Amino acid sequence: MQHTPKPPRPTFVPPKMCNSRTMTIETGRLILREWRAADLPLIAAINGDPVAMRHFVQPMTHAESDAFVARQVQRQAEDGFCMWAVEAKGAAPLIGVLGLARNGFEPPLETGVEVGWRLAPAHWGKGYATEGAKAALKFGFEQKGLDEILSMTVLANKPSWRVMERIGMTRDAEGDFDHPRVPDGHPLKRHILYRLTRADWLRQQRYEQ
Ligand SMILES: CC(C)(COP(=O)(O)OP(=O)(O)OC[C@H]1O[C@@H](n2cnc3c(N)ncnc32)[C@H](O)[C@@H]1OP(=O)(O)O)[C@@H](O)C(=O)NCCC(=O)NCCS
Repeated sequence: MQHTPKPPRPTFVPPKMCNSRTMTIETGRLILREWRAADLPLIAAINGDPVAMRHFVQPMTHAESDAFVARQVQRQAEDGFCMWAVEAKGAAPLIGVLGLARNGFEPPLETGVEVGWRLAPAHWGKGYATEGAKAALKFGFEQKGLDEILSMTVLANKPSWRVMERIGMTRDAEGDFDHPRVPDGHPLKRHILYRLTRADWLRQQRYEQ
């Protein structure tokens, strides 16, 4: 009898990936969804890409990327949201990450929920981040009842703060801060802060209708 070799096991399978009743958010072109084992090599390629990670302290190793996914699985279980996997419908099974996350800061820094994104460079310039971020805001305000959503980046990351402005967020002129997880003296230490209150978001929704 011929021996059929077993397929290789994924290096890491977060527990919730076994749950078939996972949440998804669908937009015109995207699906924001919980993480699957098959995503791990795809997101590791994006998290390890120096171009995609040029505004981060350094690209992630494969192990760091797996740990990043494990944190999202845990956040989804605890908060009901995370930085979700982003699928381009009918085009690509994983183009990046986008979603909501508690910033994990300690006072006196402002604690809160932020909206964030990271897409593979091949998928920039198509409006995907803006489309996905609008859906994440809607989920945060309507489903999770958040009163405010924050976002942060470095001034040099114009593509990112342009997404913030396109989704209706406003820069807090007094809000610049030193990011606690960036080493002192590093050029990416200083961050700018954008915010959007639920009241302003509701006003914008009425205006857009
Ligand atoms: C931040 C990031 C997601 C922004 O990507 P982006 O492609 O500039 O943003 P969007 O997906 O919203 O696309 C907007 C662009 O697509 C264009 N576009 C093309 N087709 C479009 C469509 N159908 N609908 C809307 N916009 C469209 C827009 O005109 C805009 O181009 P412009 O900036 O030249 O005016 C991307 O640069 C990235 O992943 N960077 C690396 C990770 C990172 O820095 N993350 C943020 C950390 S704080």
